[in-house]
Amino acid sequence: MFQIDLSYLITIVIGIVIVSVYKFINLRNYWKNKNVPFVSPLPIVGNHLDLILNRRTIGHIYQDYYHKFKNEKYVGLFRMQQPTLLIRDLELSKYVLIKNFNSYQNRDDDHNELKEKLTSNMVTATSEKWRKSRQKLSPTFTSGKLRNMFYLILEKGEELQKRTDLLLDVGGEINVHELVANYTTEVIGSCAFGLQLNTMMDTKDQFRRMGRLIFTMDFKRMVKTLARIISPRIFYAFGFKVFPQTIEDFFVKIVKDMMVQRKKSPIKRNDFIDLLLELKYQDGNEDKEMDDMYLAAQAFIFFAAGFETSSLIISATIQEMAFNPDIQGRLVQEIESVIVKHDGKLTYDGIAEMEYLDMVISETMRKYPVVGIIPRTCTATDKLPDTDLVVEKGTKIAIPVLALHYDPNYFPDPEKYDPERFTAEAKRDRHPMVYLPFGEGPRNFIGLRFGKIQTKIGIISMLRNYKFEPTEKTKNIRFKPRNFVHSPIDSVILRASKRNTC
Ligand code: HEM
Repeated sequence: MFQIDLSYLITIVIGIVIVSVYKFINLRNYWKNKNVPFVSPLPIVGNHLDLILNRRTIGHIYQDYYHKFKNEKYVGLFRMQQPTLLIRDLELSKYVLIKNFNSYQNRDDDHNELKEKLTSNMVTATSEKWRKSRQKLSPTFTSGKLRNMFYLILEKGEELQKRTDLLLDVGGEINVHELVANYTTEVIGSCAFGLQLNTMMDTKDQFRRMGRLIFTMDFKRMVKTLARIISPRIFYAFGFKVFPQTIEDFFVKIVKDMMVQRKKSPIKRNDFIDLLLELKYQDGNEDKEMDDMYLAAQAFIFFAAGFETSSLIISATIQEMAFNPDIQGRLVQEIESVIVKHDGKLTYDGIAEMEYLDMVISETMRKYPVVGIIPRTCTATDKLPDTDLVVEKGTKIAIPVLALHYDPNYFPDPEKYDPERFTAEAKRDRHPMVYLPFGEGPRNFIGLRFGKIQTKIGIISMLRNYKFEPTEKTKNIRFKPRNFVHSPIDSVILRASKRNTC
């Protein structure tokens, strides 16, 4: 009996090896057969070895291939065992992201939205589900709604100033990223969930823990993510989920509690919860599709997308101001003169007048984009224009944001921090597809105004009262390799001293 079992097992193993070798040989020929210049894959990991070993970000890995194939419109790669087309040509990027968006609607589609409910959030939702969500939730991001929310963000900016004061009493050195991550957590807590996290230390700690949990790509989660990419069917058959259950439970509870509270209390806060309630009960009818889990998934993504992105941009801007005192001086002058013009108040319209501030954060987002690539999946087989290449349904697409932002042909001396790259004339002279901090096309960043205003208020709140300088502990910002949304590896340590303000 044992012998039969053993020979049976050996046959299965040999079978798996033969199928894997056959699949791998086929895969190696995938791009060759299509006449696409390509990088040979390794078994299982494809071209992602450095990412898996936590050595380099996806943006940096693809940047190497972008430069290696200088004269090509595209390069064939392998995300694990999945053929992936890295697009170098700007018109082709435009074609994929905008002109023929219908054939490239999804980001990744390895997940099952029914089995892993959090993935029905707007960032990972696919096709029709995504389209409906985007349609439903777009009204929450209009400028009118943002104006109503402005005062909530401003309040948090004032608290950020006070907290910096307290830290300065202790000593002149500040961990800027930690301080700012607290600010963005509070802003999202207030604007998305109606929570006053500054006075609710327990809940705030939970939110900060959630923030860390969402963005910690430890080995276990990495293996799960890879397993889901390699075989979603087996992954879900074992009942696995990429994100821990605690995250799902946390957001479902928050949403449920908030909904109950709001129905009881007539006070409107104009935050996302109010707006979601409005959408759910439009014209007196309840929209059954917007159940608690659906709302929790959207709340989860507002938190995840809104917290780490803006805290990176604010911290990186403050660090660059410390390295570039002239730019810091000019920016502070602009901030002060606009505030004086608006009766000493920081207003929504005043912020819109701060042109130099806009140039500064644009340059920060060039040097420190929140994502290294923009991913898409081909959803309908398609021939790329002016080429012989037919992209098959299921092929992964990567637009190399980091490589473009550091391409000296588009941004000379790319390591230099220079807001002058973003004057109206400089922008006019560049192809729009070389600068993609918010993505592009119908699936671009939905909360642009909100993200920008939260970032600007954070920067103004820090710079108005304090002057920043580097210390011997200040390091150039490097990103955690495995995080999809870039996040600094090291603390952002700077020296702050009180400024004399009017
Ligand atoms: C300034 C800070 C931010 C930056 C730089 C940023 C950047 C991005 C980028 C690059 C994308 C992908 C676009 C694409 O694939 O074409 C994206 C998508 C998205 N972002 Fe942001 N983001 C920021 C803040 C936020 C905030 C505050 C929220 C919500 C409160 C948010 C919600 C989203 C959502 C829901 C999507 C998915 C849109 C869709 O698939 O339709 N982001 N963001």
